[in-house]
Amino acid sequence: MATDTSSLNLNKEVETAEDFLPILGTDYVELYVGNAKQAAHYYQSAWGFQPVAYAGLETGIRDRVSYVLQQDKIRLVLTSPLQKGGDINRHINEHGDGVKVVALWVDDATKSYDETIKRGAESYMEPKKIEDENGEVVLSGIHTYGETVHIFVERKNYNGPFMPGFKKWDPEYKAPETGLKYIDHMVGNVGWNEMNKWCEFYAKVMGFAQLVSFDDKDISTEYTALMSKVMSNGNGRIKFPINEPADGRKKSQIEEYIDFYNGAGVQHIAVATDNIIETVKALKARGVEFLYVPETYYDTVLDRVGEIDEDLEPLKELGILIDRDDEGYLLQLFTKPVLDRPTMFFEIIQRKGAKSFGKGNFKALFEAIEREQEMRGTL
Ligand SMILES: [Fe+2]
Repeated sequence: MATDTSSLNLNKEVETAEDFLPILGTDYVELYVGNAKQAAHYYQSAWGFQPVAYAGLETGIRDRVSYVLQQDKIRLVLTSPLQKGGDINRHINEHGDGVKVVALWVDDATKSYDETIKRGAESYMEPKKIEDENGEVVLSGIHTYGETVHIFVERKNYNGPFMPGFKKWDPEYKAPETGLKYIDHMVGNVGWNEMNKWCEFYAKVMGFAQLVSFDDKDISTEYTALMSKVMSNGNGRIKFPINEPADGRKKSQIEEYIDFYNGAGVQHIAVATDNIIETVKALKARGVEFLYVPETYYDTVLDRVGEIDEDLEPLKELGILIDRDDEGYLLQLFTKPVLDRPTMFFEIIQRKGAKSFGKGNFKALFEAIEREQEMRGTL
């Protein structure tokens, strides 16, 4: 990932967001997992992530192992404990595999910490400088919903593969990429009546602004409902929709998540591509499973969204959903949970002007999700 920020255009996209916390992008997403070696192989072979860096016994770390993988601007860190006890084991016992850290790339990790703590954030890690022969990285961290944390990463004085403590990981096996470019948004599920609290956290503590909100009338089916608000930072690079369950006739998918994750956490990571048809074809060919979209969805979709550049046939074949807003349209689809517990999943998204999140697809999507829930006996 580029570390030179001088040429970046940091124009404010979201007028009401305060910029006391300029964020350059998502630095990495760290998952605590039961078996990082095998998870790393899954993200390589199925998703096309490339090996970048490694930390573990061979680098002098005794209690944990971490694999760093990257595809274009998307960087994943997969971490497993090497001994019994400790916080990572406890986290996995509690939540199963899941996202622990949403790391944010900043110019000044100390200032990011001071500014957010001043505004009421709870400290996770005081600013610390770590160094090796490739330079220095400054890290600091704050808590967010559930046991999830944000780590601020300042890496302008670092040239190594990831950060001090890691060595280059260069195995012989490298899977072809699948066209994934960057993280478009990351969604948090929080408990009943907690959405506003966490949106206020992002507004007050992080200076984010609210882009859109959906209530249970927008996002409900006969059985399940949820409410959602989308929070964005000033330059629009970080978008965090926050969901809470709403009352429906049966259990909300957000409630199912909270039950299995034992609390609030990251529900999905939306990754962007420039060619969703090719990306999804590649992912499917490598065994990534997507939610089933009923064929009848395609009977009426063009009446709803109007003309699009793509042929409808391949979209229908792959189950890709379409939605339109005032600025354009978007193509998206959702994987099944990528873990054994029905918790985290991925969204693949291609934006063609649209800046929204697929509200028009919610109903079609949730009906698809409910068919899955029904099969698990948790609806
Ligand atoms: Fe999404």
